[in-house]
Amino acid sequence: MPRTDNDTWDLATSVGATATMVAAARAIATKAPHRLIEDRFAEPLVRAVGVDFFTRWASGDLVAADVDDDESGWKLEHMPDAMAARTRFFDTFFQEATQAGIRQAVILASGLDARAYRLAWPADMTVFEIDQPQVIEFKTATLAALGAVPKADLRVVAVDLRHDWPKALLRAGFDTSRPTAWIAEGLFGYLPPAAQDRLLDNITALSADGSRLGCEAVPDMSQLDLEKAREMMRRATARWRQHGFDLEFADLGYEGERNDVGAYLNRLGWRSAAIRMSQLLADNGIAAIPQTNDSVSVADTIYYSSVLSV
Ligand SMILES: C[S@@+](CC[C@H](N)C(=O)[O-])C[C@H]1O[C@@H](n2cnc3c(N)ncnc32)[C@H](O)[C@@H]1O
Repeated sequence: MPRTDNDTWDLATSVGATATMVAAARAIATKAPHRLIEDRFAEPLVRAVGVDFFTRWASGDLVAADVDDDESGWKLEHMPDAMAARTRFFDTFFQEATQAGIRQAVILASGLDARAYRLAWPADMTVFEIDQPQVIEFKTATLAALGAVPKADLRVVAVDLRHDWPKALLRAGFDTSRPTAWIAEGLFGYLPPAAQDRLLDNITALSADGSRLGCEAVPDMSQLDLEKAREMMRRATARWRQHGFDLEFADLGYEGERNDVGAYLNRLGWRSAAIRMSQLLADNGIAAIPQTNDSVSVADTIYYSSVLSV
C-alpha cells in the first residue's frame, strides 16, 4: 500500500517492519565471527515482534542466500555486514560526543535501537527516544519484560516525526540550553523530501552551540533508472512473499529530488564530515558490497557527522 501523510504502523507492518528487519540484521551481526557489534537485545526484540520471517532469519533458520533474488542487487544477505558497520558508526558517534562532554542525546526514529540499554553512558546522561507510539510502547514494554534496565535517564517520546515533535520533546524535558547529540539512523528515506528539510531545520532550532548530529542520507538517485530499481526491489520482496512475509518495500520510501544533506546542514551552520558505507565497510575490514547499476546501492549510502557552530 502506498504511503499517506498520516499513516501509522507497528513493528510488524509498513515502515515499522523495517525496524524489525534491521534489528534482525544486528542480531545476525552480533553472532558473526568478526563480532564488530554486540547487541544482545536485538534477537529477543525481533522474536517478540513475532514476524516469523524475521525471527527465522535472526535465529539462523532462514538463510538469506536461499531467499535473495539472484538478479536483484538489493539483497538481505548484505544487510548484517552493513548494519554492523552502521551500528559501529553511530555507537562511536555517541562515544565521542559524551567524551566531548555532551550529556543529552536524542535518538530520532529509534525503532528497536537498544543503545539506551547497551551503551556505557556517563552517569548524568539523558537519552530521548522518538518514534511512532506503537513502536515506542512495544519496545519499552518488551525490554522491561526482559528485565533490561536503561543505562541512562531514558525519556521516550511517542510522536510522529512529521508532526509537532519538538513540542513533545520539550514536554518530555529536553533542555535547549545544553548541547545535544542527535542521531537519525535509517530514517530519511521514509520521510518526504520536504519533511527531511523540516526535520533538519527543527533539529537546528533546538540545538545549542556545540551540538552534534549523526545521520544517514539517502544515496543520490538522479542517475538511477527508478522504474528498474523498483522492479528489482519488487523481485526481492516477491521472494520474501514466497517465504511467508508480505511487505512491498518499494512502496515505503519517498522518491523525488532531495536537498544534499551536507550542503543543507552547512547552510544551517553545521560543519560536517561525510563517509560512504563502502568506506565504513573497508575501515572495519568487511568485504565490499557489490554496487549495481539498477538498484539503490547500500554501499553508496552516506553517513554524516556534524557539529553546530553558530
Ligand atoms: C529502518 S527503521 C530504523 C530504526 C532504528 N533507527 C535502527 O536503525 O534500528 C526506520 C524507523 O523510522 C521510524 N519512522 C519512520 N518515519 C517516521 C515518522 N514519520 N515518525 C516517527 N518515526 C518514524 C519507524 O517507525 C522505524 O522505527
